[in-house]
Amino acid sequence: MIRDLTDSEARAALPLKWGAVPQGTVPAWVAEMDFAPPPAVTAALTAAVGRGMLGYSCHPGTAQAADLNAAFRGFAERHWGWDVPADSSTPVGDVVTGLRLALDELCPPGPVVVPLPCYPPFRDVVALAGREAAYVGLDPDHDHDDRAAAALDLAAVEQHLEAGARTVLLCHPHNPLGRVAHRAELEALRDLVHAHGARVLVDEVHAPLVLPGQERFVPYLSVDPEAVLVTSHSKTFGTPGLKTAQIVLTDPEETQRLRALPIAANHGHSGLGMVAGAAAWRDSDLWLHALRSRLRVQAEDLRDLLAEHLPQARVRPLEATYLAWLDLRAYGVADPAAVALEHGVRLAPGHDYQPGLEGHVRLNLATSEQRLVQIVTRLAAALT
Ligand SMILES: Cc1ncc(COP(=O)(O)O)c(C=O)c1O
Repeated sequence: MIRDLTDSEARAALPLKWGAVPQGTVPAWVAEMDFAPPPAVTAALTAAVGRGMLGYSCHPGTAQAADLNAAFRGFAERHWGWDVPADSSTPVGDVVTGLRLALDELCPPGPVVVPLPCYPPFRDVVALAGREAAYVGLDPDHDHDDRAAAALDLAAVEQHLEAGARTVLLCHPHNPLGRVAHRAELEALRDLVHAHGARVLVDEVHAPLVLPGQERFVPYLSVDPEAVLVTSHSKTFGTPGLKTAQIVLTDPEETQRLRALPIAANHGHSGLGMVAGAAAWRDSDLWLHALRSRLRVQAEDLRDLLAEHLPQARVRPLEATYLAWLDLRAYGVADPAAVALEHGVRLAPGHDYQPGLEGHVRLNLATSEQRLVQIVTRLAAALT
């Protein structure tokens, strides 16, 4: 059910991921999968294009947006047992745009707590919103077999809240560490944040990618209805180019205020993105099931390949996402991604996620088995 793209298909389908590397180099950097999208998504898009549906997308709150909202509610109920309030999603251009809009319009003034390492645009979005970032370390080098390690350091968050921070920007599940926070951690964060009159802004774009064998995902809004959720079907169902994400708020009045913003503040979402989103959330469960099983196998294969070719690499057990976080410091190379590029594989450098951090890379394992072998053996050739 999960169809691997050939090199030429991938090059045509994923212009950023594959277009940024020369022929012969394996791209394992940006978070896109080398798999064909779910058949239901492709069919819905093909039908929409056949109907000539290329006009402006509708306003938030009208029929098409309502369909996306209903499809997301169904998904959240089936997969997470979360009863999302009716009509609580507002379409936005993409997740990053949604985070920026939320900081501008929905989050209290003051510095923003950002756990590090983080998805790099988190830092940019905070800066562009004119906010100060208050960083909290997640310790990327903790004991990799200790699940409690790399949890959010609530004492450090509290210090920032006491010093005036009023927003906590959470990535749940976490990119790049691939960790999923459990209910008790989320509840403790909620209590801390509420005690300081602050708000959590949570990015759950990787939530459908919690891998088999993990506890059921707990959506942050289900424990803290005062938070702001930004999510999208894009990472899981392979549609980031269609530019559609959702801001979810549980307070209907706040939703109305968000939808009443001038078009110039929120105009980037696309009609085709909404069509894809509805088909992804509503009609792609079997495909998603197959995807998660496949990613679990890929993660196990990666561990085996590393044990064979790079035995001193430390890799976090992957709980979610298709992005593995590798600690390669034992090989004594400050920027392993730069050296790997010279050997025909493009990885994401660790310092992109935490400035100054040496010896780490993020490796995208959502590719064919053959390419995964090439990625590891070429990295090994670069480091040894
Ligand atoms: C945590 C996280 N948020 C947001 C994005 C980007 O989402 P979008 O393309 O919808 O802005 C990514 C992409 O990898 C991501 O990992």
